[in-house]
Amino acid sequence: MVGLISFLVVFLSVSSSTASTCRCFPSDPCWPSPQQWDDFNTTINGKLIATTPLGSVCHTNNTFTTYSESACASLRSIWDYPSTHYTTSSSPMAPWFTNFSCNPFLADIAPCAIGPLVRYAVNATSATDYQQTLNFTQTHNIRLVIRNTGHDYLGKSTGAGALALWTHHLKDIEIISNYTSASYTGPAIKVGAGVQFFEAMAAAHEENFVLVGGNCQSVGYAGGYTQGGGHGQLASKFGLAADQVLEWEVVTADGELLTASPAQNADLYWALCGGGGGTYGVVLSMTSKVYPELRTTTANLTFSAEGVTRSVYWGVVERFVKGLLPLTDAGGVAIWEATNASFTVTPVTIPGGTKRQLEAWLAPTIKLLRGYNMSYTYNIGEFPTFWESYAAMNPMSNVTEAQIGGRMIPRTTVENNSSALIAAFRTIADYGAAISGVSMNASRNAVPDNAVNPAWRDIAIDIVLGTTFDYYNRTADLQNQRLMTNVLIPLLTALTPDSGAYLNEADIHQPNWQWVFYRNNYATLSAIKDKYDPNQVFYARTGVGSERWTELKDGRLCQVNRSSI
Ligand SMILES: Cc1cc2nc3c(=O)[nH]c(=O)nc-3n(C[C@H](O)[C@H](O)[C@H](O)COP(=O)(O)OP(=O)(O)OC[C@H]3O[C@@H](n4cnc5c(N)ncnc54)[C@H](O)[C@@H]3O)c2cc1C
Ligand SMILES: *[C@@H]1O[C@H](CO)[C@@H](O)[C@H](O)[C@H]1NC(C)=O
Ligand SMILES: *[C@@H]1O[C@H](CO)[C@@H](O)[C@H](O)[C@H]1NC(C)=O
Ligand SMILES: *[C@@H]1O[C@H](CO)[C@@H](O)[C@H](O)[C@H]1NC(C)=O
Ligand SMILES: *[C@@H]1O[C@H](CO)[C@@H](O)[C@H](O)[C@H]1NC(C)=O
Ligand SMILES: *[C@@H]1O[C@H](CO)[C@@H](O)[C@H](O)[C@H]1NC(C)=O
Ligand SMILES: *[C@@H]1O[C@H](CO)[C@@H](O)[C@H](O)[C@H]1NC(C)=O
Ligand SMILES: *[C@@H]1O[C@H](CO)[C@@H](O)[C@H](O)[C@H]1NC(C)=O
Ligand SMILES: *[C@@H]1O[C@H](CO)[C@@H](O)[C@H](O)[C@H]1NC(C)=O
Ligand SMILES: *[C@@H]1O[C@H](CO)[C@@H](O)[C@H](O)[C@H]1NC(C)=O
Ligand SMILES: *[C@@H]1O[C@H](CO)[C@@H](O)[C@H](O)[C@H]1NC(C)=O
Ligand SMILES: *[C@@H]1O[C@H](CO)[C@@H](O)[C@H](O)[C@H]1NC(C)=O
Ligand SMILES: *[C@@H]1O[C@H](CO)[C@@H](O)[C@H](O)[C@H]1NC(C)=O
Repeated sequence: MVGLISFLVVFLSVSSSTASTCRCFPSDPCWPSPQQWDDFNTTINGKLIATTPLGSVCHTNNTFTTYSESACASLRSIWDYPSTHYTTSSSPMAPWFTNFSCNPFLADIAPCAIGPLVRYAVNATSATDYQQTLNFTQTHNIRLVIRNTGHDYLGKSTGAGALALWTHHLKDIEIISNYTSASYTGPAIKVGAGVQFFEAMAAAHEENFVLVGGNCQSVGYAGGYTQGGGHGQLASKFGLAADQVLEWEVVTADGELLTASPAQNADLYWALCGGGGGTYGVVLSMTSKVYPELRTTTANLTFSAEGVTRSVYWGVVERFVKGLLPLTDAGGVAIWEATNASFTVTPVTIPGGTKRQLEAWLAPTIKLLRGYNMSYTYNIGEFPTFWESYAAMNPMSNVTEAQIGGRMIPRTTVENNSSALIAAFRTIADYGAAISGVSMNASRNAVPDNAVNPAWRDIAIDIVLGTTFDYYNRTADLQNQRLMTNVLIPLLTALTPDSGAYLNEADIHQPNWQWVFYRNNYATLSAIKDKYDPNQVFYARTGVGSERWTELKDGRLCQVNRSSI
């Protein structure tokens, strides 16, 4: 029955592919002519970029650029670095979304088609660029994608046959020493949509402030990260990134430039603080709270499963994970990863805490490691500032070469059911998956009313599972995706039936995603989406309202025609 319905949906959409139920696709008669693209380019002062797939230098039969063995070798050597992708207007970091097209790791004779990538991008630097782009995509019924860094795991910042509004070069940063509103008086930072953590953190640090940012230095501060919630090493101390926002400047689908704050367009403000990127409007700038710099204690720890029984190894993991609860209550955060071979903590941090405090919390774990004579490495340091701690103890993040799924683990599960939780981890690790956790407490402080998934407020750990991505074997990748959806995530869901998943770090095939990613905020978020985007200009996979659309096999985006089902 389900199969029949989805067949009908696809059939109906295909049979009317050039009608208004689908976005205009490059091969369609409605696609703008070269002259129309040129005219548009003139309107936006030459900021239109036609996509050249990044991997095209690796393929002999491509229409974009010349094949070069040396350029290809050098591209392969830097493929893992986020900057290889975020400096381009089209390359998504999550490898699945390149659909094996122009894959630099395949043979040089393999095909190189633009396929799943955006066709064009506007290198936007102003509200006017946003407005012109929104006008053009609506005039020509073209799929619009908002692209910032391209970090998104769920493919929300890429799309076939789309025009990307590329926000990367909106780099303005201003430190506001005394922001004043009815709800907050104090220091703040105002950033353009393209500002990344490493830039925002550096600007704040110059004035002796810190801000809530993520682990990966290159994620977009005002983009999908904060709009989707945003965790990081300061998130127990100060709350999630979405909890810090004071106001947004947003351009809505009809081209209007609005301020969204608790005092103006408060519903849009509420939605943008945690309700997911790419959905309600295009953010031009964000203003968020910053805090005075603070002394920070940080440690890293690794240990190996070698030489001890599996129960001993997982017992130590259990001790460590359970022992983090009081640490997160004191404002600490731990970022860790377990496989069936080793456990790594990079790092565990107490902003504002002392070395003695952190040592005391880690002591029971270290004692077990010594007692079992397990091999481990352990470094601890107390730094005068968070900035120095972050620089010393936070390894540069690479592109995640994994297919992921996620689940938030409530505190009750860690406190009262940790043996079942560890048993689930053990089973998951035996399937060859990595388990990464961010142990934190996102509700130490008064929690503002915003669209952050309410499950965040009960959690002790945000879990992300990863299976390897194979650049050479689509069958293996599909198998791993099914494993994630049907086996691995359900092992955690069974233990945490009332929880959810972090919409930025989750399985693209998550069943019932509306509930799992947004919980009881979904209906309100849908209403806000329809108020500010009544014609459904903004679409992002698993974004609010996206169930109205379906992507056909070639990537064409079509409306699901409910009345005809
Ligand atoms: C290596 C790595 C490390 C990560 N570490 C963390 C972490 O520590 N903490 C954490 O919480 N998350 C983390 N993430 C997840 C991260 O929050 C998401 O990938 C997020 O979507 C990135 O946002 P972006 O704007 O940089 O990326 P993009 O992929 O460019 O955009 C993501 C989404 O936001 C939308 N968007 C972007 N800019 C705008 C805008 N101006 N207006 C409206 N919509 C916009 C896009 O349309 C898309 O839907 C990590 C991801 C990776 C790959
Ligand atoms: C847009 O115009 C600029 C400046 O003339 C040019 O460099 C660029 O190639 C044009 N873009 C496209 C897609 O033609
Ligand atoms: C080159 O690619 C085109 C389409 O992209 C295809 O039709 C053609 O067969 C390819 N040629 C070779 C030699 O592979
Ligand atoms: C993805 O690849 C498959 C197999 O080559 C192809 O049929 C499909 O059209 C591609 N989809 C997109 C969006 O490029
Ligand atoms: C985008 O615009 C910025 C200036 O705003 C410029 O420095 C950069 O080179 C442009 N990028 C591309 C790919 O055109
Ligand atoms: C685009 O701009 C033109 C000129 O200002 C205007 O007439 C038209 O209504 C706009 N179209 C859309 C879809 O916003
Ligand atoms: C910030 O502004 C408020 C209200 O205008 C004022 O009361 C306060 O003293 C100012 N604080 C600083 C540090 O300047
Ligand atoms: C601990 O391990 C070391 C080196 O692996 C070994 O020499 C030593 O005998 C072990 N000690 C115990 C008590 O097992
Ligand atoms: C732990 O921190 C030390 C000191 O900063 C560093 O040299 C080491 O590489 C780090 N280890 C890991 C696994 O990150
Ligand atoms: C990132 O990738 C580089 C090159 O592949 C590698 O040397 C480095 O160890 C990786 N860093 C991390 C944190 O995995
Ligand atoms: C754990 O169980 C105890 C006893 O049933 C209960 O009092 C406590 O509230 C539970 N802890 C959590 C976090 O639910
Ligand atoms: C870990 O799991 C992998 C995959 O199932 C398996 O090949 C490996 O032997 C396991 N290692 C340990 C230490 O159990
Ligand atoms: C691809 O992966 C599948 C599933 O794991 C495996 O059966 C197949 O042999 C692999 N193909 C190649 C060419 O390695």
